[in-house]
Amino acid sequence: MKALVYHGPGNKTWEEKPKPTIQTASDAIVRITKTTICGTDLHILKGDVPEVTDGRILGHEGVGVIEETGTSVTNFKPGDHVLISCITSCGKCDFCKRGMYSHCDKGGWILGHLIDGTQAEYVRIPYADNSLYHIPEGADEEALVMLSDILPTGFECGVLNGQIKPGDTVAIVGAGPVGLAALLTAQFYTPAEIIMIDPDENRLAVSKKLGASQTINNVKYNAIDRVKELTGNKGVDVAIEAVGISATFELCQYLVAAGGHIANVGVHGKSAALHLELLWAHNITITTRLVDTVTTPMLLKTVQSKKLDSKQLITHHFKLSEILRAYDTFEHAEKERALKVIMTAGQ
Ligand SMILES: NC(=O)c1ccc[n+]([C@@H]2O[C@H](COP(=O)([O-])OP(=O)(O)OC[C@H]3O[C@@H](n4cnc5c(N)ncnc54)[C@H](O)[C@@H]3O)[C@@H](O)[C@H]2O)c1
Ligand SMILES: [Zn+2]
Ligand SMILES: [Zn+2]
Repeated sequence: MKALVYHGPGNKTWEEKPKPTIQTASDAIVRITKTTICGTDLHILKGDVPEVTDGRILGHEGVGVIEETGTSVTNFKPGDHVLISCITSCGKCDFCKRGMYSHCDKGGWILGHLIDGTQAEYVRIPYADNSLYHIPEGADEEALVMLSDILPTGFECGVLNGQIKPGDTVAIVGAGPVGLAALLTAQFYTPAEIIMIDPDENRLAVSKKLGASQTINNVKYNAIDRVKELTGNKGVDVAIEAVGISATFELCQYLVAAGGHIANVGVHGKSAALHLELLWAHNITITTRLVDTVTTPMLLKTVQSKKLDSKQLITHHFKLSEILRAYDTFEHAEKERALKVIMTAGQ
């Protein structure tokens, strides 16, 4: 089969690899129909995720059709259409029982990381019963690719951890696919204001279309002053960090109101300052989380019922065999006005 293979920082090829086979009874082999690229794949290619080794097939998002199942898989059979979760989970260990699939003893984020991933014609999914979801008849598969990672990430790490309530004022720092996923799912709770902060004008324009009440280009303007103006000098009830650099985590600390929440979503490679001299008396909470994907079944229902239009996050389409071009587009997101890119197999 063909697959997108990582060969060390800055190096990737679309090459021939052996088709995966069942290794343990709980595995399933999925033929990929659609997949996408994540900001995290770019982190890997920059060398930021050193546990990814030469020869690894990348990708942790996608949908497909079950080709083969191990003998202990009971929820799925060959021919079933499935959504692949970016988090693999056994469903039986202590962490899984607490709904913390991301910290599963035997799984967690392993796809396209510690085991071969979804940017290929076929992928092996361990613990298939707990790591795959049935795609309902007639569902739009492209819309569901957004459920592998970015929608549960924006929702669980941003909206749920931030405890957004009706009438709240929310700032989301970073209007990439994950920040936009938080913007879309924050609206389940009807906050009064959602302020999106990003230097990319195209992404700010998209944010407005997707429901932001205010946008701030924080290269052109001072985001702290603007948020103070917009909130009667109080700051926001919830500040969501969806970039993954120390500057934006610090910015959130200046945006949050007394009694508010800072929900960190970004993956951080470096330490970030915590301004306790400012915050110790402000009754705030700070949360961090690796996405668990426990809300995937709920999000699937909202997409199916058209309460959530996840396709709005897709800007570009490619054949799976054109994946190197798709990477090039995604890597130059600002110039290409790109959000999520979809690659379709077998075209
Ligand atoms: N916690 C988790 O489980 C989890 C899961 C998936 C992704 N992530 C992380 O979420 C983050 C966002 O992911 P993404 O795919 O949307 O990334 P992305 O790179 O596409 O988007 C990041 C956005 O931040 C903006 N930005 C950069 N510097 C900024 C600054 N100084 N101020 C304001 N905005 C700035 C960029 O213009 C861009 O629009 C990444 O760090 C990613 O690794 C976390
Ligand atoms: Zn991802
Ligand atoms: Zn587990």
